[in-house]
Amino acid sequence: MICNITLNIFCNHLHNGFKTRKVYDMKIGIIGAGAAGLAALRHSRDAHHDCEIFEKTGLIGGTWNYTDRTGKDEFGLPIHTAMYKGLRTNIPKEIMQFEDFAFQTPEDSYVKQSDVLKYINDFATHFNLLPHIKFFKNITKICPLEKGRWSVEVRDLKLKSLEIKEFDAIFVCVGNYSVPSMPTFPGIENFQGTAIHSCCFRNADNFKNRKVLIVGSGPSGRDIATLIQEVSENVILCHRSPLNPKDMIPTNIKKKPEIQKFKEHSVVFKDGSEEIIDDVIFCTGYLYSYPFLSNDCEIKIENRWVKYLYKQVININHPTMAFIGVPFGIFPFVIFGVQIRFFLAYLAGKLLKSKEKMMEDLLIYMNKRKELGIPDTKAHFLGVTQGEYMDDLAETANIKKVPDVFIKIYKYVHGEGKGNRNLSFKIINNNEFKIVNQNAELL
Ligand SMILES: Cc1cc2nc3c(=O)[nH]c(=O)nc-3n(C[C@H](O)[C@H](O)[C@H](O)COP(=O)(O)OP(=O)(O)OC[C@H]3O[C@@H](n4cnc5c(N)ncnc54)[C@H](O)[C@@H]3O)c2cc1C
Ligand SMILES: NC(=O)c1ccc[n+]([C@@H]2O[C@H](COP(=O)([O-])OP(=O)(O)OC[C@H]3O[C@@H](n4cnc5c(N)ncnc54)[C@H](OP(=O)(O)O)[C@@H]3O)[C@@H](O)[C@H]2O)c1
Repeated sequence: MICNITLNIFCNHLHNGFKTRKVYDMKIGIIGAGAAGLAALRHSRDAHHDCEIFEKTGLIGGTWNYTDRTGKDEFGLPIHTAMYKGLRTNIPKEIMQFEDFAFQTPEDSYVKQSDVLKYINDFATHFNLLPHIKFFKNITKICPLEKGRWSVEVRDLKLKSLEIKEFDAIFVCVGNYSVPSMPTFPGIENFQGTAIHSCCFRNADNFKNRKVLIVGSGPSGRDIATLIQEVSENVILCHRSPLNPKDMIPTNIKKKPEIQKFKEHSVVFKDGSEEIIDDVIFCTGYLYSYPFLSNDCEIKIENRWVKYLYKQVININHPTMAFIGVPFGIFPFVIFGVQIRFFLAYLAGKLLKSKEKMMEDLLIYMNKRKELGIPDTKAHFLGVTQGEYMDDLAETANIKKVPDVFIKIYKYVHGEGKGNRNLSFKIINNNEFKIVNQNAELL
């Protein structure tokens, strides 16, 4: 059955001489005012939709806001952001740009957290987004209604009141990096030192002269270990996947295999070696989490696979709901734009696909990945294939393509330029870039 979405759209026909212009006027609810939610608002307004963003904190920018606070906020909700002092971007700012809004300053490419936050705020001001944002509004429940519409339960955290709102379509833009994944390890209950997840790490200075174990060698593990080794007595990095020599991990960081067990004041690794430690930081990643979706939304997460999303965006069972930014191993800001325009094209009836066909396409995609040996836990991993992914979205919905120069820079910084955050890039045109400081030394 073709889901004729245009039936749900209030179509207003304006007669202007010989021309007839169709104005789509859907009411769209956007959950979260991070980079994804702000981009969703900007593009939805360009498409003449009536939009509201609900943000549970008092700030835009989501993850990019730094706070000393960890644990719970003043309303008893978990702190959303995992930002820490000293963080620099791990991809150049040139591939962290929203569409039509250049990230120009500072000149460096690998910029500080505060530079990214400023860029996001400048974007919101430039596109006049702030009047549409409802702050301190926590979305606690979303349920599907008839004809593709949605009921949204909005909790006002300051007034402590509850309101139910209805929308024609929903963008879920709540980010993926706020609910920690905490594996259990034998003996951890006996460990007498401090143990935190990287979502609560704020400042390397708290680990001055300490013996610190970092578990996990993803971007958080590698970066936090590098910051801490400057002040600590000893840093041990325990990794499960092989380390890439190009990641340039300082040589005074001891590398160890997986953990066998914790003891009161030490840790034993699978190779039988043992190290005395004061503190552990679990840099073991995050979980997808959408606690506000009712069961009727028919979204389930199994083995880190958010089921079932068409092209990693559209809820196949209820296609007037989109998820922005689910893929990982990506340059997020650029992908957000194309995912949002893809969903808006669907809402405008430009992408006529039945639920059955969407599901068939998804299963073909997943089977192809299985044949390549990619496990379901990496269902949303894109890496260097994100250029093909973005082209596929653009072709499927007949929307503007993302310039190839972005994927070219991404491939460069994950290949030849890996580990060198001193490089600065300049985009020349849609296909070409240049490195401005060719002689930059490796860090
Ligand atoms: C430590 C760290 C470093 C990173 N470094 C980089 C980097 O160098 N370069 C890069 O491109 N990316 C980086 N990222 C990825 C980063 O997540 C993205 O750049 C981007 O911030 C994601 O934007 P988002 O809008 O999807 O999510 P978020 O920024 O997480 O925003 C989600 C928003 O939704 C709100 N929200 C959540 N639930 C609700 C609810 N129920 N009701 C109302 N509001 C809600 C939150 O308060 C938040 O404001 C990093 C991530 C982390 C954790
Ligand atoms: N700008 C920056 O410098 C910066 C800094 C921090 C984070 N970030 C961003 O933040 C996001 C999250 O990164 P993240 O590093 O927190 O999460 P992540 O990328 O999911 O990495 C988690 C790591 O934990 C490891 N792990 C999980 N369980 C383990 C176990 N039992 N034993 C040993 N290792 C285990 C994983 O190993 P396997 O690989 O074997 O699965 C993986 O390497 C990413 O988008 C990243 O780019 C950016």
